Amino acid sequence: MAGTLELRQAIADKLARENGLDYTASEIIATNGAKSGIYSALAISLERGDEVIIPAPYWVSYPDMVLANDGTPVTVACPETQGFKLTPAQLAAAITPRTRWLIINSPSNPTGAAYTASEYRGLAEVLVHHPHVLVMTDDIYEHIRFDGRSTPHLLTVAPELRDRTLAINGVSKTYAMTGWRIGWAAGPRDLIQALNTLLSQSAGNCCAVSQAAAAAALNGDQSFVAECVAIYKQRRDRTAQRINAIPGLGCAMPDGAFYLYVNCSGLIGKHTRAGKQLDTDGDVVMYLLEHVGVAVVPGTAYGLSPYFRLSIATGIDTLMEGAGRLAQAVADLD
Ligand SMILES: Cc1ncc(COP(=O)(O)O)c(C=O)c1O
Repeated sequence: MAGTLELRQAIADKLARENGLDYTASEIIATNGAKSGIYSALAISLERGDEVIIPAPYWVSYPDMVLANDGTPVTVACPETQGFKLTPAQLAAAITPRTRWLIINSPSNPTGAAYTASEYRGLAEVLVHHPHVLVMTDDIYEHIRFDGRSTPHLLTVAPELRDRTLAINGVSKTYAMTGWRIGWAAGPRDLIQALNTLLSQSAGNCCAVSQAAAAAALNGDQSFVAECVAIYKQRRDRTAQRINAIPGLGCAMPDGAFYLYVNCSGLIGKHTRAGKQLDTDGDVVMYLLEHVGVAVVPGTAYGLSPYFRLSIATGIDTLMEGAGRLAQAVADLD
């Protein structure tokens, strides 16, 4: 159920080689994508009313996964002025006796913001005073970095949190293997054992063919990753340059992941040619879809408005065409 020994050993080797973390195969479970690992970890641990701290903007699935497991999402607004990141003071203020988890996603979907080692240290110094809080690190974008830096892991910075941290990752992003559905959780043995019990009665083991493929990806030549990241970086740079040249739109440069989180406050209050006023980022997104056929996701979905998220996980020609259409759509507003 937990995954083939070959795959779990490949994950353990990866954690040691890339993150400097020491896990044995019995502290690792393979899951049907990172998504299943996160959901299942909440399912095994949340009682009704348990709180989960989620810095916003957040990956859309976190609050819904918490709600589906009778928990209470506690979202903390992390505006652009603080780099879309949670501060130690915010964390301290959000923790209550009912706090069960803190979820940290670095680099983040949707903003691409990544925590530095010293920012992690600041958060860890708060966490050490609250031993009842478990920490889930969603490390799925760790290798999609544009600034040439490697992504520090919370546990390398704060090894004292190891016995209450669940490190989530997978092959979806680093190896562009989303459809193979292999993720994993590494953590203390009791949590891994509970995950094993739940998953053995629900999803079952991961597809054996995919496990072999994921092990091959983890054990193989890693030069592919740097080649892909160079392509993503080119897409980020060129798309951000085009977006930032459009009056009323602006985006900070993401440190990593596949997205631009575009501030569209300059479009709020404007009117379409049909006379409709754009009051929210949802209105902006519908206008872009209907007027120029560009699909982006409103900031409301990620808990911070007025923004929209644009994915750069597509070819440069499509991105340039989309940026041109965005410019046209904005020019057509009054
Ligand atoms: C932040 C984050 N975590 C987890 C996932 C899920 O990854 P997987 O395909 O491994 O389930 C995604 C996918 O979009 C994501 O953006």
